[in-house]
Amino acid sequence: MPAIANTFFLILFLLGVSWPAETADRRPFACRHGDAAVKDLPFCNVHLPIAERVNDLLRRLTVKEKVGLLVDNATAVPRLGIQEYEWWSEALHGVSNVGPGTKFGGDFPGATAFPQVITTAASFNVTLWEEIGRVVSDEARAMYNGGVAGLTYWSPNVNIFRDPRWGRGQETPGEDPIVAGEYAARYVRGLQGNLPGDRLKVAACCKHYTAYDLDNWSGVDRFHFNAKVSKQEMVDTFEVPFRECVMQGKVASVMCSYNQVNGIPTCADPRLLRDTIRGAWGLNGYIVSDCDSVGVFFDNQHYTATPEEAAADAIKAGLDLDCGPFLGIHTQTALDRGLLKENDIDSALVNTLTVQMRLGMFDGYRSSFNHLGSKDVCTPSNQFLALEAARQGIVLLKNHGPSLPLSTKRHRTVAVIGPNSDVTVTMIGNYAGIACGYTTPLQGISRYVKTIHQSGCANVKCRNAHLFNDAMTAAHEADATVLVMGLDQSIEAEFKDRKGLHLPGYQQELISKVARASKGPVILVLMSGGPIDVSFAEHDPQVSGILWVGYPGQAGGTAIADVLFGTHNPGGKLPMTWYTNDYLSKVPMTTMDMRSNDAKGYPGRTYRFYKGPVVYPFGHGFSYSSFIHTLASAPEAFMVPVDGRHKNTTAATNAVRVTHAKCARLSLGIELDVRNVGSRDGSHTLLVYSTPPVGHWGPHKQLVAFAKVHVPAGRILRVPINIHVCKFLSVVDRAGVRRIPMGQHGLHIGDVKHLLSIQSTPLGVIKS
Ligand SMILES: *[C@@H]1O[C@H](CO)[C@@H](O)[C@H](O)[C@H]1NC(C)=O
Ligand SMILES: *[C@@H]1O[C@H](CO)[C@@H](O)[C@H](O)[C@H]1NC(C)=O
Ligand SMILES: *[C@@H]1O[C@H](CO)[C@@H](O)[C@H](O)[C@H]1NC(C)=O
Ligand SMILES: *[C@@H]1O[C@H](CO)[C@@H](O)[C@H](O)[C@H]1NC(C)=O
Repeated sequence: MPAIANTFFLILFLLGVSWPAETADRRPFACRHGDAAVKDLPFCNVHLPIAERVNDLLRRLTVKEKVGLLVDNATAVPRLGIQEYEWWSEALHGVSNVGPGTKFGGDFPGATAFPQVITTAASFNVTLWEEIGRVVSDEARAMYNGGVAGLTYWSPNVNIFRDPRWGRGQETPGEDPIVAGEYAARYVRGLQGNLPGDRLKVAACCKHYTAYDLDNWSGVDRFHFNAKVSKQEMVDTFEVPFRECVMQGKVASVMCSYNQVNGIPTCADPRLLRDTIRGAWGLNGYIVSDCDSVGVFFDNQHYTATPEEAAADAIKAGLDLDCGPFLGIHTQTALDRGLLKENDIDSALVNTLTVQMRLGMFDGYRSSFNHLGSKDVCTPSNQFLALEAARQGIVLLKNHGPSLPLSTKRHRTVAVIGPNSDVTVTMIGNYAGIACGYTTPLQGISRYVKTIHQSGCANVKCRNAHLFNDAMTAAHEADATVLVMGLDQSIEAEFKDRKGLHLPGYQQELISKVARASKGPVILVLMSGGPIDVSFAEHDPQVSGILWVGYPGQAGGTAIADVLFGTHNPGGKLPMTWYTNDYLSKVPMTTMDMRSNDAKGYPGRTYRFYKGPVVYPFGHGFSYSSFIHTLASAPEAFMVPVDGRHKNTTAATNAVRVTHAKCARLSLGIELDVRNVGSRDGSHTLLVYSTPPVGHWGPHKQLVAFAKVHVPAGRILRVPINIHVCKFLSVVDRAGVRRIPMGQHGLHIGDVKHLLSIQSTPLGVIKS
């Protein structure tokens, strides 16, 4: 009835009423008002429960249409008014154009490029992690409205930074499972918006599940690698960030990885996908493959005899969406051959369609985020947060003298030297987009003082000493020297693991020569994702200060200068161990074991298990102030209520199964006083470690809580800390069972040590 409709619109017009503002350039994905044939169908009805809408839509789809929705470039269903959709977008540390779902240009020339994740992790500031997620998703929604980005982002990467050579370690929050889990939950919450009623601002994705942390090392690449992981290591280390991401972060997606775990490709393993992610953890969302990983386990790993079996195995294992064409090509034949039922496909599509509905993609023009547009991208406040993140992530590794901060009065001319001293894109690392703009280290320092610039090496590979003399002359003339050295994506990247931990080429020689030639203090600034063996500089008295800045993002140069000149008091801490180079000879990258094995001469991995010499330990980082801790209150004993039926289990191992303890209320409260005894205000990271009673399969040391606090100079702050007993004071036995050991646990916070006795008490015996 067009006449009636027109009258209706005219009345609305006269009354000054309009449909929800359509500021978006993008046509709605589905359920447009213009689509008279479909807009009144139940799946478009925003008043119905999402599950009902999904079922209605599924009912209407043909098998061919369903198969077209199993791949990342999902096919349009024009007869139902549904457009095509590209699922693959990325937002690891800012909206990125690595995936085909996002393109820069036109009204959206760039987006705020935050520091690489390893840098942001070094802030140990959970508020910052969530805040970055919020800003990134504002920009992502704005770009979606402008028709240039998707709503499904395959970020963050929460694999454990297990081996210091890993080229993608830079993308992760580091080596500690609890920090990685907390990062995952916070960043995801920021991205997804933490909205009421299951709604999503954008859908995040925790990847790559699981035990994926090798790209290409010594003839082994990720497409062929079979990670041999014990049950104990799986539960104790590799699963932890994913569990937290799903259970605390409520992430809308998990990605399985390329590698095999114990002989089974992760994307074909029902125990990993269906039983663990969806079953045990209760994922409310979809499981996606890494890009072409179904093809990889057929073509490269020859895991199945036919491609149809590969397609069927993946879907039956619990995979819902294929990044790549494989399922689009082979699923129909798999159905025809009876390897798969239509019902299996429906189960997958329920998961993807539900996420699209939660994102509002079937709500026509209605969206609480329609107001976001190009004016909301690269705003001054968004860019300020990128600067703030870089400042908070910088780690002061050495400050002999102290020589830092530099003084604009005494150091009027500064020699700025090194292959990374005037870089832009190097500062944003991989999985980045196009930044709003950059401030290089040289530009940042030039805002404070007069500079003399010499690159010293043509690039980070630094293959010769041709430029050394000019660099030494500059250092000789200036009042202070800043060397900006380190790595870039030519040394560590996706597809590329490192061969060693030393600085590349002749970088070390350049630093030592310049240090000897310098008139004033020499500060070494290291730009890198992974750790570098800079023992020579740590021990060289002529190198008075060392900063690690990670890949500090678009505002990196400003942040570096602010720390060098003391406008910002550094408070970052290393989120990974800085091993010496000779450590590598004892740990093949392919050995997944975290625990040491004395009989095999295997030293173990990460601060939790490795006890040998390091360049800098996990958690290392100075401030321009000093902080003193004292314990204000902490219990000496703690009772764990245990279901009375399980008294025997307890007696046998003297460790209570976490599933038998009444975990919900089990929080241990302590209070710490932190005193800033320096002359500058500063932020300090409290790292609380525990040592479980001996003989319990545990790490010798485990971070159980952390807190970032700001303490003005001369002041004392009382900090309450809660430790979740079941999660953090538990250890994992050889069978992969998480248990709370009874007996004396040690708690350590800096120099403070406290003994805590944990005992069980029967509770809730079933009365029949
Ligand atoms: C999706 O990509 C594949 C190649 O990867 C291509 O063959 C197919 O036509 C694309 N489908 C759509 C709907 O664009
Ligand atoms: C791994 O590295 C080697 C050379 O170092 C290269 O030839 C090979 O193509 C790489 N493989 C992958 C999958 O990146
Ligand atoms: C507990 O152990 C005792 C002796 O080992 C045994 O007799 C009893 O049946 C066990 N009880 C349960 C509930 O397993
Ligand atoms: C944590 O980060 C937020 C956001 O940048 C900031 O406002 C806050 O001061 C930081 N906390 C500390 C203790 O530095």
